[in-house]
Amino acid sequence: MDHFHFRDGVLHSEDVPLSAIAEAVGTPVYVYSRATLVRHAQVFRAGLAGLESPHIAFAVKANPNLAVLKVLAGEGFGADVVSGGELTRALAAGVDPAGVVFSGVGKTHAELVQGIEAGIGQFNLESEEEGYELSLIAERHGRRVPCALRVNPDVDARTHAKISTGMRENKFGVPLDRAAEIYAALADQPGLEMRGVAVHIGSQLTELAPLEMAFEKVGALIVELRQRGLSVTHADLGGGLGVPYRKGDEPPTPAEYGAMVARVTAGWEVRLTFEPGRVIAGNAGVLLTRVVRTKRSGNGPPFVIVDAAMNDLMRPAMYGAWHDFDAVTPSGERTTAHIVGPICETGDTFAMDRETDAMAAGDLAVFRTAGAYGATMASSYNSRGFVPEVLVDGDRFAVVADRIDPAAIMDAERIPEWL
Ligand code: LLP
Repeated sequence: MDHFHFRDGVLHSEDVPLSAIAEAVGTPVYVYSRATLVRHAQVFRAGLAGLESPHIAFAVKANPNLAVLKVLAGEGFGADVVSGGELTRALAAGVDPAGVVFSGVGKTHAELVQGIEAGIGQFNLESEEEGYELSLIAERHGRRVPCALRVNPDVDARTHAKISTGMRENKFGVPLDRAAEIYAALADQPGLEMRGVAVHIGSQLTELAPLEMAFEKVGALIVELRQRGLSVTHADLGGGLGVPYRKGDEPPTPAEYGAMVARVTAGWEVRLTFEPGRVIAGNAGVLLTRVVRTKRSGNGPPFVIVDAAMNDLMRPAMYGAWHDFDAVTPSGERTTAHIVGPICETGDTFAMDRETDAMAAGDLAVFRTAGAYGATMASSYNSRGFVPEVLVDGDRFAVVADRIDPAAIMDAERIPEWL
């Protein structure tokens, strides 16, 4: 459930009409609802009620806005980070360093140092090589740092190929059949405190079966590690739970997910960590846009050209993703149209042959479910600048990320004297 609803014929975020935000901030603009973020955080936590003191680390990559992170920190969430930049943000937003998990296959030397100096709660090692390097750095700092070994369970998550991470051919984690041997070798390193295993098989998962299969494999690995006399006190089950993008979608609920986890992990005797991203932020945000003009083309449906483009919301162009598109003040008339942005690429298409509200130049509309992997994946392609972000809270709202104009981006460029 989210807090974007029609009141008096106008789409609101909580108590704020989206037209008021468009008026004040301009379009395109990302709009997030605080009440929705909080609700999703609480529903996710409630879904895990059957587990003993689970740790929830929000996947910062889904929405790294400082205000969003602060709302979630207020709900007791830690952070799953994948770069020094995300770590800096999480700490700046007030996330407790002990609640930070650092994932990613390519953590640089500088990022490992940054994580050690910040005193983060856990490094998720993605290779044996990374473990040796981290151990040396930790020793130099006079520290033993808490680590989990990420395993690649070779499970097909049955999601889009570009966001599937748990198959043998993917770059993530270590192969399950070598995991025990690698864990043992890393447990011998003086700079590492190997305390558990981690797994994450992909994103926008709409079935529980692949997750369950992956978790079963992790459970078997924990047994094997303990049989070898190795200590395992933690397990990180990653993120991945899908969200409804399209009216009628019914992905598994956090409660169903939590019940499955409780069943599969019974007897593991570990503290579990979760790294949800999309399920928390996805439906807590929309991309508010204005129709620039409409255009007829041959005999097909008309093009509705909006002022948002693939550089602002990359998911349709990159993954063929569906985002519901709705008018802010629908007239009741419906039509079929192609929804496109202004960028000079055919890929700058949000939807083809979409049944939608009839729209004319100047009308406001939203792409829904844009709170996760939206603003954060933006680029300035076609010298379009970066879209601002707004957080709504009841009847008030604030700009939580400024619009960055193309001129400001140009300011960072130089023409050398010799040119
Ligand atoms: N943990 C790890 C290690 C991850 O790689 C990811 C996502 C998550 C947690 C969070 O997954 P979530 O709960 O959000 O599904 N840009 C793509 C999604 C990429 C996800 C990458 N990893 C999209 O727009 O669909």
